[in-house]
Amino acid sequence: MHLPSVASLVLAALPAVMAGKSKDCDSKGLDYYAKKAGLKYFGSATDSPGQRERAGLEAAYSQYDYIMWKSGEFGQTTPTNGEKKWLFTEPEQGVFNFTEGEIVTSLAKKNGLILRCHALVWHSQLAPWVEATNWTADALREVIVSHITNVAGHWKGQCYAWDVVNEALNEDGTYRESLFYQVLGEEYIKLAFETAAKVDPHAKLYYNDYNLEKPSPKTEGAARIVKMLRDAGLKIDGVGLQAHLTAEGHPTLDQHIDAIAGFTKLGVEVALTELDIRLQLPANETNLAQQKEGYKNIVGACVQVEGCIGVTLWDFYDPFSWVPAVFPGEGAAGLWFEDFSKHPAYDGIVEALTNKTIPEGKGKGKGKGKRRSAYIA
Ligand code: XIL
Repeated sequence: MHLPSVASLVLAALPAVMAGKSKDCDSKGLDYYAKKAGLKYFGSATDSPGQRERAGLEAAYSQYDYIMWKSGEFGQTTPTNGEKKWLFTEPEQGVFNFTEGEIVTSLAKKNGLILRCHALVWHSQLAPWVEATNWTADALREVIVSHITNVAGHWKGQCYAWDVVNEALNEDGTYRESLFYQVLGEEYIKLAFETAAKVDPHAKLYYNDYNLEKPSPKTEGAARIVKMLRDAGLKIDGVGLQAHLTAEGHPTLDQHIDAIAGFTKLGVEVALTELDIRLQLPANETNLAQQKEGYKNIVGACVQVEGCIGVTLWDFYDPFSWVPAVFPGEGAAGLWFEDFSKHPAYDGIVEALTNKTIPEGKGKGKGKGKRRSAYIA
């Protein structure tokens, strides 16, 4: 369905400016502005070529790859799927597969992008053998330790951060009844962080979840996890706000600031780990303007709160997004349309990264352009 316009686009000559240009040239992409604003990176997740949402859309690859790896827009990446998730890395008990896992990792290395690694313990995209077994507590402990030891061990030293536990919470802040929780209670979270810290001591260890972007019982639950780990003497370095938002119902700038600062006050860093803002299709002037405001708010909040260290889009190119398959009727969640023109939200992000969300002369920072130092992680 995406093919006609993509194909015609690729048939057209690539802009001359792209020829031979590498990302350390004079380009001023999102990563450039993010670093100027004090963040460590602005990145995009990407999936392995030919897989899942990318299957059948090969005609778009050359232009996509240029933007992803060479244009200077992105200084960081996260493999969205095959690389690090349990389903792919340990498809059978004790059988580890790192083949697909090397694809995005090696592209990141080759192109000098920071790598975030996602995700070690998660109830979803879990290998069927884990779900099908009736575990005793001891056996499940062994399985968790073995999985993390092998997977995080394989990529030791290569991941800026690991999402150690993903989506452990319900919306009301209680623990999700995953099989890990059912068998081990919150101990599984401690075990996962304890093991990851031993295996890759230099990686930042994150708890990652969705709907943490404004204060709620769920953000309190995530704060509880941070404290629980700290009280147990374990290392947790960050909270990942997935930030899968909607154009029509996104939070305000101040709500984002409060949520992010709520975590950084605990002494952990924050990253926006899977940012996308979907809208009810078709895209039109109104919902694209709402989307722009949504992107501007959340990136602006990250800029304003010291301790919010980076932003990762959950892919930047609409046809490769996970959204249409999971949220019927919704889409256009990224920053680049199918024809590779940019959403208005791109400019909203640049505005946020150039401190346009900080009111002149007052406020959130000590003067225009300053981050809030009260919340240094
Ligand atoms: C999504 C991928 O983008 C899809 O390709 C896949 O089919 C399902 O998972 N939260 C997460 C991510 O932590 O791993 C999910 O990624 C999106 C929601």
